[in-house]
Amino acid sequence: MKGAMAALALVPLAVAVLFSSLPSSAASPVQWGKLDPHFYDHSCPQAQQIVASIVGKAHYQDPRMAASLLRLHFHDCFVKGCDASLLLDSSGSIVSEKRSNPNRDSARGFEVIDEIKAALEAACPGTVSCADILALSARDSTVMTGGPGWIVPLGRRDSRGASVQGSNNDIPAPNNTLPTIITKFKLQGLDIVDLVALLGSHTIGDSRCTSFRQRLYNQTGNGLPDFTLDASYAAALRPRCPRSGGDQNLFFLDPVTPFKFDNQYYKNILANRGLLASDEVLLTGSSATADLVKLYAANQDIFFQHFAQSMVKMGNISPLTGADGEIRKHCRRVNHK
Ligand code: HEM
Ligand SMILES: *[C@@H]1O[C@H](CO)[C@@H](O)[C@H](O)[C@H]1NC(C)=O
Ligand SMILES: *[C@@H]1O[C@H](CO)[C@@H](O)[C@H](O)[C@H]1NC(C)=O
Repeated sequence: MKGAMAALALVPLAVAVLFSSLPSSAASPVQWGKLDPHFYDHSCPQAQQIVASIVGKAHYQDPRMAASLLRLHFHDCFVKGCDASLLLDSSGSIVSEKRSNPNRDSARGFEVIDEIKAALEAACPGTVSCADILALSARDSTVMTGGPGWIVPLGRRDSRGASVQGSNNDIPAPNNTLPTIITKFKLQGLDIVDLVALLGSHTIGDSRCTSFRQRLYNQTGNGLPDFTLDASYAAALRPRCPRSGGDQNLFFLDPVTPFKFDNQYYKNILANRGLLASDEVLLTGSSATADLVKLYAANQDIFFQHFAQSMVKMGNISPLTGADGEIRKHCRRVNHK
C-alpha cells in the first residue's frame, strides 16, 4: 500500500498540471516523454474537434462503441508501444494483430478509426497519426460516457509492422493470475495503482461468454464453479453461457450501469460480481489491490483522478517520435511496401 499512498499524494499536483494551460515544457510529475499536447496546434488545429465529432456520432449510433474504442488504445499500447500496430491488416510480411487471441472476434471499432482518419486526411493530409487518433478516441469515449477528461499528449507516429505474438503474450488474459497480470503491467512501466485504476474501464462494454465460461463450471479443473463468483450471479449467467456453445454471446461487464463510466465496477467486485476472473482477483489476490478496489468503490473522484493520470501513463508507452515510423495515410496499411 506504500506505493499507492505515494501515488495518492501526487494526485492533486498531477491533476492541477493536467488541467492547467501551462506550456508542455513546464515541470510535471507526469511523464509525457517526447509527446506534447500542443503537437498539432499549428499543423492541424481542428484535429481534436474532428476526432471528437466522429467519436460522438459513433457513440450515438452504437452505445457500446465508446467501450470498444477505449479498449483499442489499450490493445495498441501494450504491444510494441502506442504505435497503431493494432490497426494494420494482414498484408505481405505483416500478420495482423487483429488475429491474436485477445483481439479475434472481439476487438472492434476499426471502421470508426477509418472514418476519423479519412476526415483528418481531408483536412490536414499526412499530418495526424493513427496512434494519436486512438489516444484521442479513448479520452473522448471516456468523457462521452460520463468519465473524467484529461489532456492528451500527442505526436506519436505509426509503426511499419505488427506483432501478433506480442499481442498474444503481452496483453493480459482474463484467466491470468494476479501475479502474472501485475508482471505484464510492470513490463509496460505500469504499477498497481495504474492496474486497478485502468481496469475500471470495465465499467462499460461487453464480454463474450467464452471469456468467463470457465468460472461458471470448472474454474480449477475440479468440476466446480469459481467460489469467488456470487452464486446467484453465476446462475443468472449460465443460460446464455452454457458448457458448450454460445461462445460469442455478449454480457455487460457492469450490468448495473452498462453504458455509464462510473465506479460501479468496483462496487460489483466487492459484491463478488466482477464478471471476469481478472476483475475479481483484484479483491481476492492481494491486500494492496483490494485496498484500491475499496478506495475507488467508496470515492469516485479519486478513481477518476487516478484513471486520468494512468491513461496518460499508458498512452506514453514507447511512442515512435521524430523520424521513427511514419504518418500512415490509411490506418490499415503502411505507406510503402
Ligand atoms: C488485466 C487486464 C485486462 C484483462 C485481462 C482484460 C480482459 C478483457 C476481456 C476478456 C474483455 C472481453 C473481451 C471479449 O470477450 O470480447 C475485455 C473487454 C474490455 N476491456 Fe479489458 N482487460 C484488461 C484491461 C483493460 C484495460 C487496461 C482497459 C482500458 C484501459 C480495458 C478496457 C476494456 C473495455 C472498454 C472492454 C469492453 C470492450 C467492448 O465492449 O467492445 N481492459 N477486457
Ligand atoms: C486460460 O484460457 C485459455 C483460453 O481459453 C486456456 O487455453 C488456458 O488453458 C486457460 N488457463 C488456465 C490456467 O486455466
Ligand atoms: C474440468 O477440467 C478438468 C481439467 O481441465 C477436466 O479433466 C475435467 O473433466 C473437467 N470437469 C468437468 C466436470 O467438466
